[in-house]
Amino acid sequence: MVRLQQVLPERYTTAPEYELAARIGTAKGKLGDRVLVLCHHYQRDEVYEWADATGDSFKLARHAADHPEVPFIVFCGVHFMAESADVLTHDEQVVILPDLNAGCSMADMADTEQVLDAWDDLDDLCGTDRIVPITYMNSSAALKAFVGEHGGAVCTSSNARAVLTWAFEEQRAEKVLFFPDQHLGRNTAVQLGHSLQDCAVWNPHHEFGGLEEREVKAATFLLWKGHCSVHQRFTVDQIERARAENPQVRVIVHPECAHEVVRAADHVGSTEVILRTVTDSEPGTAWAVGTEIHMVQRLAANNPDKAVASLDPLVCPCSTMFRIDAPHLCWALENLADGNVVNRIEVDSATAHWARVALQRMLDIT
Ligand code: 13P
Ligand code: SF4
Repeated sequence: MVRLQQVLPERYTTAPEYELAARIGTAKGKLGDRVLVLCHHYQRDEVYEWADATGDSFKLARHAADHPEVPFIVFCGVHFMAESADVLTHDEQVVILPDLNAGCSMADMADTEQVLDAWDDLDDLCGTDRIVPITYMNSSAALKAFVGEHGGAVCTSSNARAVLTWAFEEQRAEKVLFFPDQHLGRNTAVQLGHSLQDCAVWNPHHEFGGLEEREVKAATFLLWKGHCSVHQRFTVDQIERARAENPQVRVIVHPECAHEVVRAADHVGSTEVILRTVTDSEPGTAWAVGTEIHMVQRLAANNPDKAVASLDPLVCPCSTMFRIDAPHLCWALENLADGNVVNRIEVDSATAHWARVALQRMLDIT
């Protein structure tokens, strides 16, 4: 989705790194405890160093919800994370995303019109009474609202298992319609003891998801055809190569990776789980990590007693997370310190109501 980020004045774009750091420090100092800077693990170091709290998307959402006393939250992450923070905070709290173009290509793969069409198609094919929609946190507030209104919940990479269990046990789902990451959906279904044959991929660009009626009826999991372009680069070949180079290496990947990669890895988990697992491992341990490169590089730097490397030597950064840089953070904080709110992320109240229902169900489940 294209959002319009204004071009920053030259005093931000041409300032050297050390000057920006000093100015960020001054603005943050001036704002004191009126501002909370939240940083996702994929952020660059020049931004991450200013975090009041860091985490995966679940931890950051919970952190925002747990701080009703802070008037300003500067969210260094991507758009859906800032939207969720806005939904989970009260109306007077202001959530700011330093660069409006920091979206998520996976979240953009499920737009509301397509989702409504899919729901109508499913109603025609098999009825929707026993279908529970579950959306990954990486989705628009509008999709979260759809899910909330239809008896479903949000999940993240750290609680997908618990949320899907809730859908089947508490909501008595016969089927789950899972948005937008087919890989997290499939990986979690298998973790719960289902087979790959229980999963069918719903392609929103085709009528009836490109599926036959009998395929829809037979599936327990209808997985939206979405993916993360960063995580789908990891392959089983890379795992085999890492093991050939060092048979002791331990492979840890994010659940947005393809199922065969997750199956071949030693560990799978959210960014926070990856951080804790590597950090808490024995000195001398070697790790091949399948997630975004800024996080892997920081893990390597912070764990000099271990050998930490990316599973893919040519891995790209998440280009949208990368948009948040020191100039944009400085611009957002200096404006705030001068009393100007820039780049406020505000979800309209009708959408926020149902999105909050879906997010709150997740918080209650986990
Ligand atoms: P986490 O919730 O594990 O931080 O994942 C968010 C994300 O966007 C990974 O690509
Ligand atoms: Fe979205 Fe992938 Fe970037 Fe995560 S890494 S924010 S899923 S594009």
